[in-house]
Amino acid sequence: MSNVYASSHPLVAHKLTMLRDKSTDPTTFRQLVREIAVLLTYETTADLLVESKQINTPLLPFQGVELAENIGLVPILRAGLGMVEGVWELMPSAEVWHIGLYRDEKTLKPVEYYNKLPIEPTVSVCLILDPMLATGGSAVATINVLKHWGVSKIRFMGIIGAPEGIKNLQTNHPEVPIHLAAIDERLNDQGYILPGLGDAGDRQFGTG
Ligand code: PRP
Ligand code: URA
Repeated sequence: MSNVYASSHPLVAHKLTMLRDKSTDPTTFRQLVREIAVLLTYETTADLLVESKQINTPLLPFQGVELAENIGLVPILRAGLGMVEGVWELMPSAEVWHIGLYRDEKTLKPVEYYNKLPIEPTVSVCLILDPMLATGGSAVATINVLKHWGVSKIRFMGIIGAPEGIKNLQTNHPEVPIHLAAIDERLNDQGYILPGLGDAGDRQFGTG
């Protein structure tokens, strides 16, 4: 699992426990998704490229750095939307490109219903946002779309991953790093992650 990173940060573990709790209401759930996204962004972007930048402090010239890469956020609708605000807190100028997918309840295969990418890529690195990596079908399909669009540097940032989804993603897109808050035990017969947190979209938006 060389390109899989599961956070070991105590704050992430603390907030994820609250997120999993079935008594957590949608308002708190959304707040926790945003906060966990902030913490994961810090870890996920640790190796972003920088270039030197000359500035002047009030006292002296200074050779500093600025981000060298143009980053695009790709939230998978619906549940990925809740992570955008958290990432924006650290990278407010990041562009956001939406992709809408839902899992067919019987086949568990992703069905694309929305895609708002321009004809040509305007970013050099795409960070896919989706709280749940279950079968991995949605993530694999999104990466297929992004590669077809012309982006080659892609990262996945989620909150909970199942071993089945991680394996699927690694098999189909082995070069894509996977950043998670936690790796859970397995999927149940309906494709839900165990112990997981239930349906991330329904819990954020108060549906279901
Ligand atoms: C959830 C989740 C992922 C997908 C993960 O979305 O947000 O996108 O399932 O499952 P997979 O790894 O098996 O593809 P869902 O289809 O429930 O749609 P929603 O976000 O609109 O609720
Ligand atoms: N999607 C969710 O929202 N939760 C799961 O456990 C699996 C897929």
